[in-house]
Amino acid sequence: MFIGIDLGTSGLKAILVDERQHVVGSASVPLSLSRPRPGWSEQDSADWWAALLAAIDGLRERHPRELAAVAGIGLSGQMHGAVLLDAADTVLRPCILWNDTRASVECRTLEEQIPDLARIAGNRAMPGFPAPKLLWVRKHEPEIFARVARVLLPKAWLRLAMTGEAIEDMSDASGTLWLDVGGRVWSDTLLAATGLTSAAMPRLVEGNAQAGRLRADLCQRWGMTNAPVFAGGAGDNAAGAIGLGAIRAGDAFVSLGTSGVLFAATDRFRPYPDATVHAFCHALPGLWHQMGVTLSAAASLAWWAAIAGRHEADLLAEIGTVRAPSEVLFLPYLAGERTPHNDGSVRGGFAGLAAGTDRAAMTQAVLEGVAFSLRDCLDALAASGTRIEAADVIGGGSRSNAWVRILASVLGVPLHPLVEGEHGGAFGAARLGRLSVTGEDPAEICVPPVRRDAIEPERDLAEAYAARLAAYRRLYPAMRDAVVADQTTATSA
Ligand code: XUL
Repeated sequence: MFIGIDLGTSGLKAILVDERQHVVGSASVPLSLSRPRPGWSEQDSADWWAALLAAIDGLRERHPRELAAVAGIGLSGQMHGAVLLDAADTVLRPCILWNDTRASVECRTLEEQIPDLARIAGNRAMPGFPAPKLLWVRKHEPEIFARVARVLLPKAWLRLAMTGEAIEDMSDASGTLWLDVGGRVWSDTLLAATGLTSAAMPRLVEGNAQAGRLRADLCQRWGMTNAPVFAGGAGDNAAGAIGLGAIRAGDAFVSLGTSGVLFAATDRFRPYPDATVHAFCHALPGLWHQMGVTLSAAASLAWWAAIAGRHEADLLAEIGTVRAPSEVLFLPYLAGERTPHNDGSVRGGFAGLAAGTDRAAMTQAVLEGVAFSLRDCLDALAASGTRIEAADVIGGGSRSNAWVRILASVLGVPLHPLVEGEHGGAFGAARLGRLSVTGEDPAEICVPPVRRDAIEPERDLAEAYAARLAAYRRLYPAMRDAVVADQTTATSA
């Protein structure tokens, strides 16, 4: 029996998976995030801990026998969050999350300071990544910076709390801007740029390697006589890929989660920073991957549902069957954008509103805006030489048939939703937990799930969207200039 734990942004999920890879139990606990200032996005690690205990306690109540038999645990988690710890491993401030944009200036500083940054780290400096955030803390919270002894990503902090060991896996470590992603080692050059040394960093392991054992008091709490082994685990996107069996070059998926991700596995390190393509290690040795990331995917729909005062499902029902693009355009840059703009300052917007525009047209525009931003990701990956012929589709948004139809026509790529509700990163994490215990061949375990029939691009819709895409793309420079002008007015006022 194995456990997969996914520390997501909107909730923590834990699943119990048996030897036949059946999910025999699951528990989810919601998490909220705080935005103390515009562009900031934070969570308290104490809330993660409470969620973890509630989730596994829940499994213990409903499946005591299965829980007692757990041999391996895999962790998956939201990437890029910076948990700052002092020398006694006390958390120094709330975690600054992946969709926080406060460190834009520090990104420019880093890129000027290390001209080789993208070649070593495989990525542009982006505000959501830990390295520029640490520079921000150095400047704005010097008393905290002075006490920083260690920086951990969210799931590595959870592992520290569960095992007492500071260990990170390659896929998540790739999202720090401190890793030499081609060499799969911490980079002294990159660490030095933010005042760190490798002594401050967790030990690196591959996602399917062993990485600690559950603490004795937690074993007792959950009725386990043999302490389960932890696997290195993976960042949530690489863990999602392991769950989908995307472990061969060219295997691809789209995730319509809080963020939107277009993911493609690669057999070598393939950086392409020009269009803000992310080049990361995969969660298995000798494999890498590329990603295009849009920061607000399901987050855009959740935002719109809160504004409209309606449940997302009701809004989706209202738009009915989509036959033509909405008259309204939506830019999903609520938290800035990564691929292809790498712009933490730009913001979102609706365009083309008319006196007769109704809520359904605006909801459809939100779905389309996210689809257009993922099309930008597809084109960015294509410019790097990565062609995507078909892709699985996962994440909360994949449950909407309308959204997947729109996306297939905007991308011009057949999309495969899964037959059963998927378990995202948690399922991939459980597989890694198993591999770390059994040492099995990953190809035998990381097999694809059962898929529904592909949702194909529809010719009329695809043609109509091709025309709208050009209009959508003209909005970015206009919005960027408007936001800059607005900031200048605000500063001079
Ligand atoms: C990937 C990214 C997001 C988070 C969401 O680079 O920032 O997909 O991992 O949890």
